[in-house]
Amino acid sequence: MRIAILPTPLAAARTLADVIAEAIRRQPALVLGLPTGKTPIALYSALVERHQASRLDFRRVTAFNIDEFVGLPAEHPGSFAAYMARHLYRHVNFSPRRSHLPAGDARNPQQEAARYEAAIDRAGGIDLMVLGIGRNGHIGFNEPASSLVSDTHVARLTPETRRSNADAFDGDWRKVPRTGITMGVGTLLRARHVILIATGASKARIVSRALEGPIATNVPASLLQAHPNLTVFLDRAAAGRLSR
Ligand code: PGA
Repeated sequence: MRIAILPTPLAAARTLADVIAEAIRRQPALVLGLPTGKTPIALYSALVERHQASRLDFRRVTAFNIDEFVGLPAEHPGSFAAYMARHLYRHVNFSPRRSHLPAGDARNPQQEAARYEAAIDRAGGIDLMVLGIGRNGHIGFNEPASSLVSDTHVARLTPETRRSNADAFDGDWRKVPRTGITMGVGTLLRARHVILIATGASKARIVSRALEGPIATNVPASLLQAHPNLTVFLDRAAAGRLSR
């Protein structure tokens, strides 16, 4: 595991954007796994800047988002599809054919999850998985539990996760869907390179548990310790409780 500690959240986002830009220049048909949440917003705007200022070219890149709410059409402002359009896809030259999210409004979400997992396989698997971490240790919608699911599946969301997504639902967490389609921990760990980004003091405790605590399913992000090619980008605040 490599840990990069940057002075500010912005510096962490920009450094990670440089790593992604370099990976795309080396491998124009890169397959990315992409997160949502508040943390990656600065990352996406740094990528948009690199597209505009230095012609970073996304035309041949494929992207698979990690998760999506069940029951929302892509047009719903709270959907992760809308988030991705707002923060990234509308501003850069991604091919619509190669930018994927689970269909939140699929009639059969279980079938949609299986289709999504198969689409990732067909694309040759994920080269570079970019991940955030929830304050409860979740990765994607893989919430703390006594056991975890390996492949893409329909997951029940904790009230905590629904609360942290309430902004796009009139601030009312009860309007946030109760379930989501998410890549499983196996899908995430099969990526050839995994990058975790966490910023802010509110993540310090979970970052130290995930990276330095025992590997345990009640901290899903701790499973990343077992990945042979993991890079972690933190700002100083999020690194504040690491012992080494
Ligand atoms: P956040 O979400 O960036 O909004 O803290 C991270 C996550 O839940 O993965």
